Amino acid sequence: MEGLKKIIKERRSYYNLSDKSPVSDKEIKELIDFAVLNVPSAFNSQTTRVVLLLNEHHTKLWDIVKDVLLKITGPDKFGPTKEKIETSFQSGYGTILFYEDQSIIRGLQEQFSSYSEKFPGWSEHTSAMHQYAIWMLLEDAGFGATVQHYNPVIDAEVAKTWNINPDWELKCQMPFGIPTAKPGEKEFGPLEKRVLIFE
Ligand SMILES: Cc1cc2nc3c(=O)[nH]c(=O)nc-3n(C[C@H](O)[C@H](O)[C@H](O)COP(=O)(O)O)c2cc1C
Repeated sequence: MEGLKKIIKERRSYYNLSDKSPVSDKEIKELIDFAVLNVPSAFNSQTTRVVLLLNEHHTKLWDIVKDVLLKITGPDKFGPTKEKIETSFQSGYGTILFYEDQSIIRGLQEQFSSYSEKFPGWSEHTSAMHQYAIWMLLEDAGFGATVQHYNPVIDAEVAKTWNINPDWELKCQMPFGIPTAKPGEKEFGPLEKRVLIFE
């Protein structure tokens, strides 16, 4: 299979991660830089902000998630959540946080008032494009990853811990590492219901 098609097909949600890396940390930084430079954004607004957490920073993030969720669920129901976080996310090599800079979105809304209501949605699309590009680049590098949404309950503690700009809004967390198990079976709906072609 051709290179890009192979990556698109083999990118899956990998929930069993080890803390090993197939590449250097420099290469991880380079793939993030590559995506942030080349992925498009609405009006070329470049609203996406990415934070790479490695080593104790990665561990700390998932400690924060556990602390916050423990307070929400209470100790009785926390066991399975703790287990999942520790084996699927915290066990990995690193985590990427995806933010969108709301100050740019507000500026665009003032500048182009007729599109005002559209900009928040386009910012979500822009973030998703960055997430997907980085997910594929991680796959290409030999990592597995998932997309997680523990925002907004973790936002305040994460912002405080890494001194995140208050204009940045957290969209998702992407833990990654070398997979230790294959992804689960995936069901596919019929293409003829999902794709229309007129020719
Ligand atoms: C927009 C979006 C949001 C998602 N949110 C989560 C999430 O919060 N937690 C999670 O475990 N997986 C999440 N996923 C992963 C999907 O469940 C997964 O991509 C889908 O089941 C297809 O499986 P695959 O990624 O292995 O191809 C999300 C995926 C997308 C595209």
